[in-house]
Amino acid sequence: MRVAAQYLLTAVVLMWTAGCMSQTGESPVNQTPEISVVPQPVSVEMLGGVFTLSATFLIQVDADVPQAGGVAEYLAAKVERATGSKPAIVQLDGQPAQGAVVLRMLPAADDLGTEGYALRVEADKVVIEAPQSAGLFYGVQTLLQLLPADIQSAGQATAADWKIPRMSIRDWPRYPYRGMHLDVCRHFFGPESIKRYLDLLALHKMNTFHWHLTEDQGWRIAIEKYPRLTEVGAYRNETLVGHYSDQPHNYDETRYGGFYTQDEVREIVRYAQERFINVIPEIEMPGHSVAALAAYPELSCTGGPFETATRWGVFEDVYCAGNDEVFAFLEGVLAEVAALFPGPYVHIGGDECPKVRWKECPLCQARIREEGLADEHELQSYFIRRAEKILEGHGKRLIGWDEILEGGLAPNATVMSWRGMQGGIAAASQGHDVIMTPGSHCYFDHYQGDPGSEPRAIGGFTPLEKVYAFEPTPAELDAQAAKHVLGAQGNVWTEYMNDFERVEYMALPRMCALSEVVWSPADARDWDRFLGKIDRHFQRLDALSVNYSRSLYAAKILPEYDPQARRTLVTLKTDLPDLAIHYTVDGTPPGPSSPRYTEPIPIDRSMTVQAATVTPVEDGVQVETPVTREFFYHRGTHQQIRLGTAYAQRYSGGGDHALLDGLRGSTSHKDGRWQGYEEVDLDATIDLGELTTVGRISTHLLSETGAWIFLPRRVEVELSDDGETWTSAGTETFPVPGEHLPTEIREVVFDLGERSTRFVRLTAENVAHCPAWHQGAGGKCWIFIDEIVIE
Ligand code: ACM
Ligand code: ZN
Repeated sequence: MRVAAQYLLTAVVLMWTAGCMSQTGESPVNQTPEISVVPQPVSVEMLGGVFTLSATFLIQVDADVPQAGGVAEYLAAKVERATGSKPAIVQLDGQPAQGAVVLRMLPAADDLGTEGYALRVEADKVVIEAPQSAGLFYGVQTLLQLLPADIQSAGQATAADWKIPRMSIRDWPRYPYRGMHLDVCRHFFGPESIKRYLDLLALHKMNTFHWHLTEDQGWRIAIEKYPRLTEVGAYRNETLVGHYSDQPHNYDETRYGGFYTQDEVREIVRYAQERFINVIPEIEMPGHSVAALAAYPELSCTGGPFETATRWGVFEDVYCAGNDEVFAFLEGVLAEVAALFPGPYVHIGGDECPKVRWKECPLCQARIREEGLADEHELQSYFIRRAEKILEGHGKRLIGWDEILEGGLAPNATVMSWRGMQGGIAAASQGHDVIMTPGSHCYFDHYQGDPGSEPRAIGGFTPLEKVYAFEPTPAELDAQAAKHVLGAQGNVWTEYMNDFERVEYMALPRMCALSEVVWSPADARDWDRFLGKIDRHFQRLDALSVNYSRSLYAAKILPEYDPQARRTLVTLKTDLPDLAIHYTVDGTPPGPSSPRYTEPIPIDRSMTVQAATVTPVEDGVQVETPVTREFFYHRGTHQQIRLGTAYAQRYSGGGDHALLDGLRGSTSHKDGRWQGYEEVDLDATIDLGELTTVGRISTHLLSETGAWIFLPRRVEVELSDDGETWTSAGTETFPVPGEHLPTEIREVVFDLGERSTRFVRLTAENVAHCPAWHQGAGGKCWIFIDEIVIE
């Protein structure tokens, strides 16, 4: 750690004093004359020369601003944690002391706004000034990022003479709402983990923690008036094992749960305030409330009984909207919640509320009639409006997911847009405040690298670059409506995150990218510069022992079929440029002694390409996440194929040639290698170009009944010399299953002995419609095929 940091410092100093990047010995992206501050500040002016912060520096604060004292304490504690010695904090009266860090308030009229700051590294001191204490805090975060990375560590930093290039920074955020969400219900993370999360937010100048506290699978906040919420609702009897789409479902038969006491909540809120983070509690209603109904079944439409949910998904049992006891209960809950959280907002969920029970419930139907509501969507709107009145009675404002638009928005509601940007656009156009958190860019429970080499995630694919490219303010909003976009938020749903290390892995570095989206000016965003800073930022995360994802370093195996040249070339690349990629094609694991990749690899036989990036570390090298891809080379490879029916564009498997491209699919049906046929049969004819001796024809079919993918009723292979007269070479039939089956890849093999043929035709009959027992009964189902192997 020490060596790396010193090396870094040398490099940094060289960059600024000599203005000559090529002497640093770092890779070209690291040569940009930029400081590694994340998020990127608004303006940085290098002044030339360096300031030396001695081991015994003083922190001087404005005499009469108590909040400035709090920020000074934070800085002193941080230095003490890293070095073991605590800088003294003294009042500033008159001239700053030689070598001091000065924290000073500016007149409120300064254009830095409520969260901005100015930071000057002068020859003999560092001065951080801000109109408000939040700005001082962000100035301190920037100062910490100008120091060696191990200032973030617990005890690894040596209090030495730290050199900081002289510079002047003026900086303020683009958006007032810079959020990170955490679901503590699907899995529970104790108070120490929550504090760690808050520290990571603070490092990135994020100012809002959206704490998702109640769910079907667990109620996590103690409410004194309703003790059964935690006695019963905080625990579930067991938990789903594996992925939700794996069928049949298996459970771990282990009781699971936990909750925060009100004292713990108060301590977390205090800790957040010290870091200028507002905490928004989320109490879900009317849906996602099974844990509460397990505790108080009388609040449902049917009376129950219920048990705290043990699997993921959306549940039909929700709070009854016709029963006034429900609103009395919510009043009791929200009164305690409002008292615990000093911030202006409470989030009431509002998403994914099925209307099934309300349609059947006499009380709900009576409510619809009495209130003159058109339907159950207006009943949802009625529910949210009553929640808003309750919150306003406690001086709080309501936030809800974008479903609260259904049936009309509550008068003062703020909308969190998650099903894309449209909900946010609609709400902002109606003059409501909006927070953008679309699944496409802000769901950090999605995969961030090759699903085949990543730990199990819910699905999707949201790599770092996509997060970085997110634009929270849609172009179609006029200036007035655009002002209602308060900012953006990253969401961390934890169905597939059993422990906090996994949370860190999924949240970082995507939170780092999002922090530039919400803090830095839109035109200051620069992906290449971000990549250039990330190594040094990762050293900070290392110093904090954060289990962040290194997907940026992972090699990507990118095959490209050239139909003209009839060949496949494999390119290896990484997001970070100029990394050393090593590879093997002989089944051995790749490492530093394997060949280094220099040019595309031709696929001229069956082979398994394995690739890994090799990066230097202090005491040797590190082999980053190896990736593997198998290629088949067979008689059909690069021959002509004609498809008699059309595959679905979203499951093209790579396009027209996919069934002969030598690429196998994995058990993830979204891996891009499967070709999907929805409802229609498959009919593929391959021309081998000349009479060819064939001994074996095989294919792979995916069975994933939970994703509506079935084995075909029947697969047949036919042969022909002229493409007109066909002889069957074998059929195989599969019964339509009577229940969900485990996901599997089925190899279907036709042994032909030795047959001479020019044309091979493979047809497969689609089950076409989901059977009656299936949740999609009557709906279109799929055939998924990856390759037709002719040997
Ligand atoms: C959500 O992801 N259900 C808001
Ligand atoms: Zn009801």
